[in-house]
Amino acid sequence: MNGFVKARAPWSRPYGAADISIDLGTANTLVYIRGRGIVLNEPSVVAVREVAGGKQEVVAVGLEAKALVGKTPHSITTVRPIKEGVIADYDLAKEMLEHFIRRSRRPWQFGKPSIVVTLPHGVTEIEKRAVEEAGYSIGAKKIVLIKEPIAAAIGANLPVLEPVGSMLVDIGGGTTEVAILSLAGIVCCHSIRVGGDVMDEKIIEMVKRKHRLYIGEQTAEKIKIALGTAWSDGDTQRARVKGRDSVTGLPKIVEITAEEIAEAISTPLRAIVNAIKTALATTPPALAGDIVERGIIITGGGALIRNMDTRLQRETGLPIIIDKSALLSVALGGGKAIEDPELLEAISNG
Ligand SMILES: Nc1ncnc2c1ncn2[C@@H]1O[C@H](COP(=O)(O)OP(=O)(O)OP(=O)(O)O)[C@@H](O)[C@H]1O
Ligand SMILES: [Mg+2]
Repeated sequence: MNGFVKARAPWSRPYGAADISIDLGTANTLVYIRGRGIVLNEPSVVAVREVAGGKQEVVAVGLEAKALVGKTPHSITTVRPIKEGVIADYDLAKEMLEHFIRRSRRPWQFGKPSIVVTLPHGVTEIEKRAVEEAGYSIGAKKIVLIKEPIAAAIGANLPVLEPVGSMLVDIGGGTTEVAILSLAGIVCCHSIRVGGDVMDEKIIEMVKRKHRLYIGEQTAEKIKIALGTAWSDGDTQRARVKGRDSVTGLPKIVEITAEEIAEAISTPLRAIVNAIKTALATTPPALAGDIVERGIIITGGGALIRNMDTRLQRETGLPIIIDKSALLSVALGGGKAIEDPELLEAISNG
């Protein structure tokens, strides 16, 4: 995987260093191991089976569990334990973390690791504590929390330690965070609980309403990625979509147009545009000049929606830069921080 940042001999563990950095995302979890880079990138999904006494047994985690979404017998359900960037199901989040860390470490690495976890800017103390407790309960020696917008900015190579204003928009599965950063800190951050998941829900609703067809989350996500656009450019692309007729219950195939998808995702896209405009309106004047000059950096999976740059450029009049590692930026930034204890120290207090 091309997520490697800076090699340090794995045995030279600098004072204050962390061993593992985890981007615990609503849609995807990424694990970066110091000295090795990003070693795991899998959907944040767990498949569970109900067993005697009302207990749950985990049957699959990550990619394997996502492949089961919507296809399981009644006794098995798939759960996404992270919602809107924070732990929603404590026990399953803990099991998922434990499983991912176990798979990421080499067999001889059995000491207790120090773990950096990246979290959205607006999390509450309770939400932070849940992550810390989950980390300690799976055997971490130390948990360090860093804010996702800072990690993403470092991952996107922005000059976060300098007295220069940068604006970063991270459009994830569950949240969109719009942050203005300078001098290793977040000057202001506007966070909304809207991201790629809401777009998928809107597509499911539209297909049901207009075509009387039930489709699953995964199908909706696939059509969003194939046909979704943030700025319609007369695209006449179409896709054949399989689902179940909402009236007869029989399997059916319908054709969906790019225009229909653009219409379905227009409300969440508008909310994202408005969040960016609100953040711009509250930017301190001294930093606004830097942003006008340097533009806005867009990251997270939602940055990859076709024509996102055109849409945001037209709406804000500012240069828009789509991060070239949009799906990796938070993990890469967390990784750079664990490779560099001084950087970690500077941002974990920010
Ligand atoms: N090429 C693409 N076009 C459109 N959307 C995409 C594309 N690739 C991924 N996505 C969407 O991006 C979202 C996942 O992005 P990301 O991995 O950044 O989220 P996350 O970090 O898990 O979530 P959060 O940061 O909200 O906790 C999903 O909704 C996915 O459908
Ligand atoms: Mg994210």
